[in-house]
Amino acid sequence: MARRKKIYEGKAKTLYEGPEPGTIVQYFKDDATAFNAEKKDVIEGKGVLNNLLSEYFMKGLGQIGVPTHFLKRLNMREQLVRSCEIIPLEVIVRNYAAGSMSKRLGIDEGTQLPRPIVEYCYKDDSLGDPLVSEEHIAAFGWASQQDMDDILSLALRVNDFMSGVMFGVGIRLVDFKIEIGRVYDGDFQRLVVADEISPDSCRLWDIESGQKLDKDVFRRDLGSLTDAYSEVARRLGVMPNNPPSPSKPTLVN
Ligand code: TMP
Repeated sequence: MARRKKIYEGKAKTLYEGPEPGTIVQYFKDDATAFNAEKKDVIEGKGVLNNLLSEYFMKGLGQIGVPTHFLKRLNMREQLVRSCEIIPLEVIVRNYAAGSMSKRLGIDEGTQLPRPIVEYCYKDDSLGDPLVSEEHIAAFGWASQQDMDDILSLALRVNDFMSGVMFGVGIRLVDFKIEIGRVYDGDFQRLVVADEISPDSCRLWDIESGQKLDKDVFRRDLGSLTDAYSEVARRLGVMPNNPPSPSKPTLVN
């Protein structure tokens, strides 16, 4: 079988050329990094869980009319997505203070915010993804005003969907990060939710106990990351029946 062409290797995923023009295969790795890759580890099974969870969230978003790049899951580690031009922004939505916002503004973690707050970071690892304002985004041409209106609306729709889904299984969506891609349909461009939505890119706390079920478990050495992600997958009913075998992907229709 011909080897696929690798397009890009990121910290948690590798992208390969897809079978048809305009498609990409996203391979979810077991690598976990934090603090701009200063902290690294390999967490067996993380890629499988994130692949299944991201599929679940992206499909659900599609079903309520939020456009995403997701096409279909190929196997336990890979999904087929539409290729898109990633806008160089990390779009963060916060419902409760935590992480960098708590640090920056001195607000206790877990404090409910008066309304969801959307923040933008410029995607550049060498700069540590700095927080930027809409002024920077407009002045440097990273996105147009129309894009920004669409991005805000997408981010808030994702927040409503994700908050509801998680609340339904006893989990509080504290905050999350999404990335947005541009796809071209003929002369028209539209924006879609791209990359992944998984416990790597969200803060998820058990509503009753406050237990963390996201990547903070790894960032802050709070226990087993696989146990935390498996718990999220189990509650959502997307836990694989047989524990995933990383070396043997299974084709799904
Ligand atoms: P922060 O509080 O560290 O700024 O993180 C906000 C949210 O964004 C949190 O849900 C984790 C997520 N996130 C990423 O997905 N990638 C990153 O590189 C960082 C720093 C945060």
